[in-house]
Amino acid sequence: MIELSGVSRTWEVGGRPVHALRDVTLSIGSGEYVSVMGPSGSGKSTLLSLLGGLDRPTAGSYRFEGREVASLPDDDLSRLRRERIGFVFQSFHLVPRMTALENVALPLLLAGVSPKDRTARAAEALASVGLSPRLDHRPDQLSGGEKQRVCLARAVVTRPGLLLADEPTGNLDSASGTEIVALLERLHASGITLLVVTHDAGIGGRARRRVRLADGRVTGDEAA
Ligand SMILES: Nc1ncnc2c1ncn2[C@@H]1O[C@H](COP(=O)(O)OP(=O)(O)OP(=O)(O)O)[C@@H](O)[C@H]1O
Ligand SMILES: [Mg+2]
Repeated sequence: MIELSGVSRTWEVGGRPVHALRDVTLSIGSGEYVSVMGPSGSGKSTLLSLLGGLDRPTAGSYRFEGREVASLPDDDLSRLRRERIGFVFQSFHLVPRMTALENVALPLLLAGVSPKDRTARAAEALASVGLSPRLDHRPDQLSGGEKQRVCLARAVVTRPGLLLADEPTGNLDSASGTEIVALLERLHASGITLLVVTHDAGIGGRARRRVRLADGRVTGDEAA
């Protein structure tokens, strides 16, 4: 599904290069469950942004389902991202003035799904994370764990093949975190390819495959 070959991502800050990723080569097959761990600043979020098509490599090749992403036109890249990839972030990124239902329906709106189907599918996705009683709540009327469950519903409402989670439990208490991990693993069990960035060794250790980053390089890649 994912093939990175010699991928680097470099920024220029104050005239100096910042190497967030250096020469990363990594393949991830369809249906895998992979955790990515490493110190702060090691390039984990940069890697996820590249994998999710939110950013492009400065060097190297990234093939997603056989297509070269590095050189894909912007429109094609945003369509691929919209249709094939779901994201969950530590800090939620929900639209504050929208209800849970509207937030989850948003990706379907962008995909051109009819209003009636949008509402039905968003309600179904929220039901699958146990939030049927909270459809009309805005983000500020939800707990942290509930917000993250809305994010999960939003990430998978389009039925993507790949789910990328960047410290999905980073802002949650341990009970809510455990619940989110269980939901992620249920999605994985139903066939989605799952990549989880985490600082929590307990969570990272649950993945069947563990990738380690340090200073922008892959320094470990082991299967359980
Ligand atoms: N937009 C940017 N411009 C310049 N440098 C950046 C930018 N984004 C990230 N970096 C740098 O790239 C490196 C990798 O950042 P990244 O966010 O990928 O780290 P991370 O492993 O996710 O860290 P954390 O665990 O703290 O989230 C860091 O040194 C960071 O300062
Ligand atoms: Mg990060």
